[in-house]
Amino acid sequence: MAENRRFTTAAGVPVANNTDIMTAGPRGPALLQDVWLIEKLAHFDREVIPERRMHAKGWGAYGTFTVTHDITRFTRAKIFSEVGKKTDLFTRFSSVAGERGAADAERDIRGFAVKFYTEEGNWDLVGNNTPVFFFRDPLRFPDLNHAIKRDPRTGLRSADNNWDFWSLLPEALHQVTIVMSERGLPKSFRHMHGFGSHTFSMINAANERVWVKFHFRTQQGIQNLTDAEAGEIVKNDRESHGRDLFTAIECGNFPKWTMFIQVMTEEQAKHHRHNPFDLTKVWPRGAYPLIEVGEFELNRNQENYFAEVEQSAFSPANVVPGIGFSPDKMLQARLFSYADAQRYRLGVNFNHIPVNAPKCPFHSYHRDGAMRTDGNLGGTRTYYPNSDDLWANQAAFAEPPMSVDGDGARWDHRVDDDHWEQPGNLFRAMNPAQQEALFGNTARAMGDAADHIKRRHIENCTRADPAYGAGVAAALGLALVAQADE
Ligand code: HEM
Repeated sequence: MAENRRFTTAAGVPVANNTDIMTAGPRGPALLQDVWLIEKLAHFDREVIPERRMHAKGWGAYGTFTVTHDITRFTRAKIFSEVGKKTDLFTRFSSVAGERGAADAERDIRGFAVKFYTEEGNWDLVGNNTPVFFFRDPLRFPDLNHAIKRDPRTGLRSADNNWDFWSLLPEALHQVTIVMSERGLPKSFRHMHGFGSHTFSMINAANERVWVKFHFRTQQGIQNLTDAEAGEIVKNDRESHGRDLFTAIECGNFPKWTMFIQVMTEEQAKHHRHNPFDLTKVWPRGAYPLIEVGEFELNRNQENYFAEVEQSAFSPANVVPGIGFSPDKMLQARLFSYADAQRYRLGVNFNHIPVNAPKCPFHSYHRDGAMRTDGNLGGTRTYYPNSDDLWANQAAFAEPPMSVDGDGARWDHRVDDDHWEQPGNLFRAMNPAQQEALFGNTARAMGDAADHIKRRHIENCTRADPAYGAGVAAALGLALVAQADE
């Protein structure tokens, strides 16, 4: 038999028989010494790893980012150092609320996570297909997930829980309006935009900082599904988005997105009429126009779904020199949460899994830990300072100081706030057919939620625009009970 066809245990020992359990006599009970049976079942028993708490259902692909426009005036990041420069990347798209077995074609936000394997380390942009989020305080995040996932008593998804929570958070209306609009149910991952959503920073060679938002605009065009179309698709195919992406790439029909940035100077930020680090708001494009940067193409499917897509680990904390964070409270909390989740989901050495490993040399003093399989730095001294002069700080990459002010406290971010203007603007920018779709989608999604919750949402919509509230009320068959604020 050819060497590569011989069947062995994980320890490389030949398996003599993979079809008959070892028993005492032909009809007798099993023998403990059937170590192959025990190994096979024990491995099987551990084949499931925890799914991501949110964004559990997802699909991935590799690709290439190409710089098309010079932005070195804003950033010294090597990935943007010259026009024409190419960088490899891995992307994972996902839905948010459903579990790993959920159907793809459901009304939900889509995750849009990109890992750029730059020569100065991995840069992860872990965004969504929406430019804003439901709230601006990270203490809300676990509650969001408890509200949109399964009810603790029934184990069922609950419109009542979901809309109770959303309608009690007026700042959620902007995101809720997007999710209930036509764009809340993309036809496929290829037909949606992506957004970094948060405000990030860029730092140039002169060590000057600007605030930045990232946008990926689909070159395939926006295409959406109606609830009815999605219902038909789900009946026949729960994996419609994954199948679409895999098939397109396999056929050489590579999807592309154009990357843009919006830029705000530190001085402009001081005078911006809203908090520029508020994740529930967009920066108006009139004042902060889109600046084209480059494009990325997805052109290679994974060889193994579990190894590459399921074990991929993205984190907003992964930035490279020239790209930095901002005081956005949500971003600040995410800097902790992702690697923390991944240490639990994949183990402390998750960065060694090939899809997550940097493609540039990397030297940290971390050692040991579960599943350390790369030689563990051999005999290298893993303390600092050391007499071997290993590995020195790279002081040239230090960021300029970020000026902050104020007293440390739990500040009430609801003070002086405007929850209604931007969702109202979004509503008014829709044509009548799009507004009708918004009303109908909202009414269907609210389903059997209690009337007082429906009325509370109508009240929120009315504050954004009386016609928005009236439309949702009519679609729900409820009389208008609230008027807009004076
Ligand atoms: C996944 C936390 C807000 C986009 C995750 C995961 C955690 C998490 C723990 C699972 C990570 C893993 O197991 O690998 C949080 C917290 C948030 C927050 C604490 C707010 C305080 C956001 C926002 C966005 C976002 C605002 C988009 C702008 C994503 C995406 C994934 C994800 C795309 C899936 C990444 C992948 O494909 O592996 N989040 N998240 N999250 N989150 Fe968040």
